Amino acid sequence: MKISIILGTRPEIIKMSPVIRELENKGLDYFILHTGQHYSYNLDKIFFEDLELSEPKYNLDVGSGTHAEETGKMLMGIEKILNKEKPDVVLVEGDTNTVLAGALAASKLHIKIGHVEAGLRSHDRGMPEEINRILTDHISDYLFAPTGKAKGNLLKEGIPQHKIFVTGNTIVDAIYQNLEIAERKIDIFNKLGLERDEYFLVTAHRQKNVDVKERLMGILEGLKLVYDEFNLPIIYPIHPRTKKRIHEFGLEIPRGVNVIEPVGFLEFLKLEANAKLVFTDSGGVQEETCILKVPCVTLRDNTERPETLEVGSNVLAGTNQEKILDCTKLMLNHENNWVNPFGDGKAGKRITGIIKEESIRK
Ligand code: UD1
Ligand code: UDP
Repeated sequence: MKISIILGTRPEIIKMSPVIRELENKGLDYFILHTGQHYSYNLDKIFFEDLELSEPKYNLDVGSGTHAEETGKMLMGIEKILNKEKPDVVLVEGDTNTVLAGALAASKLHIKIGHVEAGLRSHDRGMPEEINRILTDHISDYLFAPTGKAKGNLLKEGIPQHKIFVTGNTIVDAIYQNLEIAERKIDIFNKLGLERDEYFLVTAHRQKNVDVKERLMGILEGLKLVYDEFNLPIIYPIHPRTKKRIHEFGLEIPRGVNVIEPVGFLEFLKLEANAKLVFTDSGGVQEETCILKVPCVTLRDNTERPETLEVGSNVLAGTNQEKILDCTKLMLNHENNWVNPFGDGKAGKRITGIIKEESIRK
């Protein structure tokens, strides 16, 4: 059996790493096809280094563009490689343009598709990620749902039960595999002049937020209010999309907000695990803060990670400045004693085990 791992962006590299590790452990035949959707060192290569992954066998170097440009170029490149390599299974993770292109190219060539992190729904079709998720789920053969809730979403859409496997989320595996290394090896506190639990951390890059001037302004104004209230540094590793938009819209970074370049996974984990609270519009960061028992304020009106709201690790603030401050006070006033709903850190093992078993059965 031959497996093709198709990935292309920061979160896919991180969340696929436990699956890749398990493929190695089980001695299965696989190769990595990178679309090149992310290509800057600190959105791409740094993760292969931090997570000790071998180089992709192929990189399509598609780069940035409109949704159609990115997806179209990927489809053409992926098809060529799949035709040459003839894998039995393609594995994709998440909801990016890379995921949709990988699944679509494979489905037309009648190659089985495994979707890691299947069944997430924000119920907001204005987000490109929601379209990518729905389409990918409906053409996949093995749907690896991280939680029972995600499985429920798939069943409601008519996806047959026998295709769905609840495995936990591979981000739990990635955290368990890397947190101790990050705590031991990383010295970012000295570099940034920080004390444990005495700073806030921010990530915000979602198209639906940062491409809209009023929403991006609301986020920055909200951070200003938080600094005025708490007088603690706010560390913001900035995604290139956001950096570009702040410049285009002529916005100012408020006092107290320390904008830095995006950091590697180990540095980010250390910052995240020790923050007083995290502000984010990232999907992965909502999960990670929940697992790390750090309160989270999500700068969105909805989430495809409702489990975090249910256990009380996260609250939706949207992008209104006063609401951001109110949510911060709310989250700092309650205990961080929730239970992690995303699994036991063995998702990578389960996913590779299922793929192996299924291939023997056929
Ligand atoms: C993509 C995903 C998003 C995911 C995010 C992870 C889609 C539709 N969106 O968004 O779901 O949360 O990745 O971070 O697939 N750029 C660079 N260097 C890079 C890559 C991008 O500078 O290596 C800049 C370019 O100006 C580019 C912009 O970032 O135009 C956006 O990149 P793109 O990959 O299109 O979308 P993301 O916002 O990264
Ligand atoms: N992350 C990182 N460095 C950073 C910001 C985020 O390593 O400077 C990691 C973070 O730990 C998480 C992932 O990137 O695992 C989230 O990616 P992103 O927010 O880009 O995508 P999303 O999860 O929203 O799809």
